[in-house]
Amino acid sequence: MTNTRKTCLITGCSKGGVGEALAEAFRDKGYHVFVTARSTNKIPEPLHDASNVTVLALDVSSSRSIAAAAKVIQSETGGKLDVLINNAGLGMEMPVLDTSIAEAKKLFDVNFFGALEMTQVFSPMLIKAEGCIVNNSSVGGRFPIPFIGIYQATKAALIQTSEVLRLEVAPLNVRVLTLITGGITTNFLANIPTLLLPENSYYHGIRNIIEEQPQQVPFGVSPNKFAREVLYQVEKGTTGKYWIGGATGFARLSLWLLPDWLLDRFSLSQKPFTKKLAEEHGKRTAQDTKLD
Ligand SMILES: NC(=O)c1ccc[n+]([C@@H]2O[C@H](COP(=O)([O-])OP(=O)(O)OC[C@H]3O[C@@H](n4cnc5c(N)ncnc54)[C@H](OP(=O)(O)O)[C@@H]3O)[C@@H](O)[C@H]2O)c1
Repeated sequence: MTNTRKTCLITGCSKGGVGEALAEAFRDKGYHVFVTARSTNKIPEPLHDASNVTVLALDVSSSRSIAAAAKVIQSETGGKLDVLINNAGLGMEMPVLDTSIAEAKKLFDVNFFGALEMTQVFSPMLIKAEGCIVNNSSVGGRFPIPFIGIYQATKAALIQTSEVLRLEVAPLNVRVLTLITGGITTNFLANIPTLLLPENSYYHGIRNIIEEQPQQVPFGVSPNKFAREVLYQVEKGTTGKYWIGGATGFARLSLWLLPDWLLDRFSLSQKPFTKKLAEEHGKRTAQDTKLD
């Protein structure tokens, strides 16, 4: 690898996603890109073939996997990393009351602790390069939407930690860019596991409403457009929260201008379940009273 090239490490680069587009954008700009995914055969073939790309297996929820990747990158770069993009992430759809604690922890392991451990392990290389950490969070981390609460919690935690980290590492000459990401037309929604409500869920009667969702992200921008914008902001030296992706203008303005009760209305209009759930609950309570 040529020592003069800037280096970039990206997590979650499976075909069709944001990671793939980011990898292409940084590769085309001349960076040496460490393109990673938990399964390397999900990384598109053209990325394997590029001379300024190293493809690596990396599961961000496994300390062992992170350490193995770090060893390779340390030796290939001489211990300098210019850009780390914590992009890997999973979705989850489930009422908060029904979410298994084990599943919630698994989601945090990927979306939050994965990014945290990556940052910690690669920090010496980032500090040496006076580099930049990019955390791909979500508008969902700022805006309560029913039935994706745990996903949103992982992203809210990522935003907050990323912002604190920004202050803590600025004196070490490392920048932190926190992406408050809106819609991007990937398979993210389609990749969310099928909803399996527990037997005793209060939400069985409105299951159809919970499940009803587009398979494509609404108001999404293309992954390539998103990736080019991230590259531009990284090169420009932007730090802090950066709103990017479809419908972020609207979301940002709404959060700034609207009172909570109006935000709730908007949020509930996305899945109008409250009336039906209240009716179902009323019927069940009446039946239970009869039986008593
Ligand atoms: N698309 C949107 O509208 C949108 C909006 C806001 C934020 N985001 C964020 O953008 C990021 C990328 O999402 P996407 O839209 O490109 O969806 P995606 O196509 O589903 O990509 C998610 C990527 O994360 C990877 N991943 C999951 N668990 C991992 C683990 N333990 N270790 C390493 N990689 C793992 C997936 O790998 P596998 O293929 O092996 O599962 C996949 O490569 C996510 O963090 C997501 O939360 C997306």
